[in-house]
Amino acid sequence: MTSDTSQDRATSVSILRRLVQEHGRDHVWAYAGAAVLLTLAAGATALSAYLLKPVVNGMVAGTDFKQLRMLAWVVAGLFTARGIVTFLSILILARTGNRIVANVQRRLFDHLVRQDMQFFHEHHSTEFMTRLSYAAGTVRDTLQALILCFSRDMLTLIGLIAVMFFHDPLLAGMSLVFLPVGGYVLGKLIGRIRRSARRSYDGAGQIMQIMQETVLGSRIVKSFNLEDQMRKRMNGAVRIVEKASNRVAASVALSGPVSDALAGIAIGAVIFYGSWRISIGGADPGSFFSFIAALLLAYDPAKRLAKLKLDIQNGVTGAQLIYSILDRPARETSAADSPALKLSGGRVELDGVTFSYRPGEKVLDGVSLVAEPNQTTALVGPSGGGKSTIIGLLQRFYVPHSGTIAMDGQDIAKVDLQSLRGQIAFVSQDVFLFDGTIRENIAFGRQDASDEDIIAAAQHAYAHEFITRFSKGYDTSVGESGAQLSGGQKQRIAIARAMLKNAPIILLDEPTAALDSESERIVQQALDALREGRTTIVVAHRLQTIVKADRIFVIQDGGVVQSGKHADLVAQEGTYRTYFSSQFGENTVPIAPRPAAG
Ligand SMILES: Nc1ncnc2c1ncn2[C@@H]1O[C@H](COP(=O)(O)OP(=O)(O)O)[C@@H](O)[C@H]1O
Ligand SMILES: [Mg+2]
Repeated sequence: MTSDTSQDRATSVSILRRLVQEHGRDHVWAYAGAAVLLTLAAGATALSAYLLKPVVNGMVAGTDFKQLRMLAWVVAGLFTARGIVTFLSILILARTGNRIVANVQRRLFDHLVRQDMQFFHEHHSTEFMTRLSYAAGTVRDTLQALILCFSRDMLTLIGLIAVMFFHDPLLAGMSLVFLPVGGYVLGKLIGRIRRSARRSYDGAGQIMQIMQETVLGSRIVKSFNLEDQMRKRMNGAVRIVEKASNRVAASVALSGPVSDALAGIAIGAVIFYGSWRISIGGADPGSFFSFIAALLLAYDPAKRLAKLKLDIQNGVTGAQLIYSILDRPARETSAADSPALKLSGGRVELDGVTFSYRPGEKVLDGVSLVAEPNQTTALVGPSGGGKSTIIGLLQRFYVPHSGTIAMDGQDIAKVDLQSLRGQIAFVSQDVFLFDGTIRENIAFGRQDASDEDIIAAAQHAYAHEFITRFSKGYDTSVGESGAQLSGGQKQRIAIARAMLKNAPIILLDEPTAALDSESERIVQQALDALREGRTTIVVAHRLQTIVKADRIFVIQDGGVVQSGKHADLVAQEGTYRTYFSSQFGENTVPIAPRPAAG
């Protein structure tokens, strides 16, 4: 585990400064108002301690009851006033804090959706959840702790120490000796709490991740009897959190008695010395009681100040998690002046496209191909060849390292991103449906679509019939990720969504690969309807699709190794012929004249 190095401390300070600058500045008036109110509260506390002197001395000297009664009113009034200003200041702080949380959540999410695909591949989804929920809250708590400590606790402490020094400088000096000792002991404990807290935070993330995977993968978990394994993983994570929480609890539990004991020793010593001074030295008891009251009142704010470091540490950890996302440049943006993509036919051309996900591992190496308008262009080849990567590049999920992709002669890297994606309809093998109804899921294709448009799209996608057979029809809910529908139904809803979008370019990534042959036949019909009059690029595994394609590109090891029509390709010796016969059997390949052996 890392120790509190000076570099750690330097980053903590700079993160804290940034936190205050970014959020404190926006709410400077609210915080200033709260600070003024808290200052008043601090003054009231110090004053009430100070007032004990005339009260006690008056009692001892037998002063007029009326005067003492007056003091009683003042003290009661002071505490009531302190209660009111404290209430107001805490209300202000809470509301400001909640606004900050809301802003941080909005900013984080806004930034997240503008991140590129690579970023989402690199992180587990639960990481974002903890950042959005937990980390955003710590930012608020830290700012709140800062303002409370610096205005209320710090000032209260200063006021009370002033009262103490005013009454008895020597005694005050003596009591303050205990502060550094107490500070050191508490500091040690706090270090332990912090380390354990971080471990429990990691564990909590793991718990969320295992839970999520168990729910999303419930089919696999059940069918492979993975319950025990999942339980074991969950137990491990739960144990980490339990242990760490116990350690936190032990340190927290210890910190109370330890500081209480220290405070008790200090107060005992003060009482001992004070009584000695009153009885032997003849000092006035009023000053002494006022002193003791100030000392006792100083205890709580002093304890909170000592704990401040811990609160801040929590906040710094949270803020670090948030800034690590906010500081990552949003790659999914187009330059402000990039022109919109204007398509007439929709001719797609890749020229010498090179790409790798990880440095040094070329996935595409100089791919050139053309997809003509009104035609179906098929990408075929062995798994891992780079077909899906090409589909991703066409939607600018990633950007080629060299080479260009053009649509109707316009380089897609230079056009407005939204205008590019607005003219592409994408259907993938693994359909994603959002939680909601069938109608809502189709409507994601085009925001201003009417009910008639949605139904027409579903009809074209051969989905209308099965949808209307549900008792709730289009208002049937699809369940999380479409769990309540069959694979073929989900796929047809996805096609209806693409239909509704009415885009000139259609990208299909093995849309029927996961379906049985009956569903495939229907989905195939839906796809044929979708393709009509558009530029279609399809990653194909099925014989039907491949044979019907206007042009086939064989992708292997990140390059185009052959291209042409099925009849021509199959007549040639080469990858396609080998691939094709291994996929669909020798008898589907026409016998071509082989060159004489020699
Ligand atoms: N997000 C990713 N990060 C790193 N490598 C990837 C990623 N996605 C795909 N790859 C790799 O790129 C290669 C091509 O993958 P892909 O385009 O999906 O192939 P295909 O669709 O032809 O089966 C594979 O070797 C795969 O391991
Ligand atoms: Mg693929």
